[in-house]
Amino acid sequence: MKISVIGCGYLGAVHSACLTELGHEVVGIDVDPEKIALLAAATPPFYEPGLPELLSRSVATGRLRFSTDVSDVRGSEVHFIAVGTPQLAGSDAADLQFVMAAVDSLLPHLASGDLVVGKSTVPVGTARQLSDIVNSHGSGASLAWNPEFLREGFAIKDTLAPDRLVYGLAASDHRGESMLDTVYTRALAGGTPKVVTDFATAELVKVAANAFLATKISFINAMAEVAEATGADVTQLADAIGYDVRIGRRFLNAGLGFGGGCLPKDIRGFMARAKELGVDQALTFLREVDQINTRRRERMVDLAKEVVGGSLVGRRIAVLGLSFKPDSDDVRDSPALDVALRLIESGATVLATDPQAVETARRRYPHIKYVASPAEAAVDADAVLLLTEWREYRDLDPAAFGDLVGTKTILDGRNCLDPGAWRAAGWAYRALGRP
Ligand code: UGA
Repeated sequence: MKISVIGCGYLGAVHSACLTELGHEVVGIDVDPEKIALLAAATPPFYEPGLPELLSRSVATGRLRFSTDVSDVRGSEVHFIAVGTPQLAGSDAADLQFVMAAVDSLLPHLASGDLVVGKSTVPVGTARQLSDIVNSHGSGASLAWNPEFLREGFAIKDTLAPDRLVYGLAASDHRGESMLDTVYTRALAGGTPKVVTDFATAELVKVAANAFLATKISFINAMAEVAEATGADVTQLADAIGYDVRIGRRFLNAGLGFGGGCLPKDIRGFMARAKELGVDQALTFLREVDQINTRRRERMVDLAKEVVGGSLVGRRIAVLGLSFKPDSDDVRDSPALDVALRLIESGATVLATDPQAVETARRRYPHIKYVASPAEAAVDADAVLLLTEWREYRDLDPAAFGDLVGTKTILDGRNCLDPGAWRAAGWAYRALGRP
């Protein structure tokens, strides 16, 4: 198929390359000329494992182009909307200006039979509104909603072989369904389940999934708070309850909590939309989910204060990890970066490092002192804080690393180290939710 993708951020860039891999002919459109130039040269503007290779392969086929000119979508039959919906400044609600602008810019180029497919995460009700706009334009194009569930770090796998495909379609839009089936032929042949539904359900599936995941993480972090008050061990608790298949062990890792460009803003946007719909009570628990999450960051700073003797003023703290999770250079709403900033506000001298996110963090917060490696961060440190569980930090040798620091104190913000091994090497080991 000939396909256009509007918006070449994380979602759109990965989607464009994956669609090419599936045999389609794709044009990726973005308003940012720098991003387009990088992508056209097969260079991802962000870190995602496997994407450089996939982009090179896809661009080399000649079936993947990138452009800043939206009229280049002409000739495509399917047009994916993959622009961002960030949190509005000063509000919990999602900012829809990029989605609206993308659809507006597409309208003059749509031909009869074209399918516009929303992938962006939007408040429920948006697809109906956009469908009316597309229909009333009179081009003969129609709209479908096909939410995206990719995780950073696993974006290619999640796009090529998703857990499920959700099609939100207007009543009896069989043509839309069959066009999406053609787009996703390979995944469907591989057994990916497909849910065909209405617009509202498709939009809600996306935010409900992220709300559930956020709730699961905050649930175990609430247990961590109770564990801290009782001397219990939240990691063993998670293992034990996780054996119950109805609960499941995945997404029950207690620690600094969730961040990133999706979970935090999606639960807030969901609450804002529920309020507009008059069902805010149904989602008040998400406010608590959000607050439990923030309290973990505060607790980490309090723990740091405690282990350096009560005050952070003038203390040297090594911060390992800045991205919101490993295998990503994304620092949007990153718990690790937030803790680093809070430490600095409390008077600490922070030396921060990350395998991939130093540059993205530096762009936002140039005042933090960044170093290239854990070894440099550790020099004369009064305490080491492990805040993002990158493999190279999990694999640190406590004995060799101990020779570099001033004081052998480590705070494991992600419960990812073996306390026994670190204590045996002479470290004071502390973690969230563990004795
Ligand atoms: C999340 C969802 O997992 C995807 O399904 C969804 O498509 C995506 O948002 C989106 O809406 O676009 P992502 O933001 O890449 O994906 O990150 P996750 O893997 O969900 O992790 C989110 C945060 O939760 C990270 O900060 C991570 O460290 C934290 N986390 C995760 C925990 O604290 N504990 C866990 O057990 C798992």
